[in-house]
Amino acid sequence: MIIWISVSKEFLVSLHGGQVLSWKTDRGEELLFISSKAIFMPPTPVRGGIPICFPQFGKRGSLEQHGFARNKIWVMDDHPPPLQPSDSSGKSFIDLLLKPSEDDLKIWPHSFEFRLRVSLSAEGYLTLISRVRNINCKPFSFSIAYHTYFSISDISEVRIEGLETLDYLDNLHEKKRFTEQGDALTFESEVDRVYLGSSDMIAIFDHERKQTFIIQKEGLPDVVVWNPWEKKSKSIPDFGDEEYRQMLCVDGAAIEKPITLKPGEEWTGRLELSYVPSS
Ligand code: BG6
Repeated sequence: MIIWISVSKEFLVSLHGGQVLSWKTDRGEELLFISSKAIFMPPTPVRGGIPICFPQFGKRGSLEQHGFARNKIWVMDDHPPPLQPSDSSGKSFIDLLLKPSEDDLKIWPHSFEFRLRVSLSAEGYLTLISRVRNINCKPFSFSIAYHTYFSISDISEVRIEGLETLDYLDNLHEKKRFTEQGDALTFESEVDRVYLGSSDMIAIFDHERKQTFIIQKEGLPDVVVWNPWEKKSKSIPDFGDEEYRQMLCVDGAAIEKPITLKPGEEWTGRLELSYVPSS
């Protein structure tokens, strides 16, 4: 069974989780982090790339951590309904589809179709467009996050801009609400937060690599920021003890206010990742 699909030489997607596993510059430099201890065996989620947390984020509900979508085998969607506006011109792209199995419906009794388009533009922008449709006869609500593991030079060398003055829920303090006070977010210890109601663009500056990631998003008001740091890293079996230095998760997400779909309704969320050289 083919599980990994190399859509172009610059990106690789797995049917396991509908997960982007690799996104490279045109010079072949990897932009996403994958742990050297990642387990590529469904239903274990793969540690790295862009896992999709759906229909639940974290432990905020009765499902397994981060929901089941990242553990499932998605299928290629050969005839997806057209995107409005069209998003495929001049790009390499792939369309994937997830529908709930009988077992999924026992733990989350809502029929849905989750369509994912992953595309790469000629300029190297990676775009993920999710469309979730309610094909049930009653409404349901869900949360979603693109749990993006960015590859960075060193966690002490990066800062995030675009989260200033926002409120956040801190998972390290019983999900209590705080307000960001700093001008930019830098890292000296474990961080596990959900920033609420951010603007549609945030940036990760990597001083040592002289590179900036730009995250643009639509329909995804929240931003998760996660780095396990030294102590927690040692407790994660599929993560190297020192790997926290080379990764930073920054997710476009909809968590605080779950999305509700009536029967027949569809929700669309869009994440666009790009990188630019910086001084
Ligand atoms: C973060 C959660 O977003 O994901 C953390 O807030 C969690 O609490 C992390 O540890 C990784 O989750 P997982 O299930 O992939 O180990």
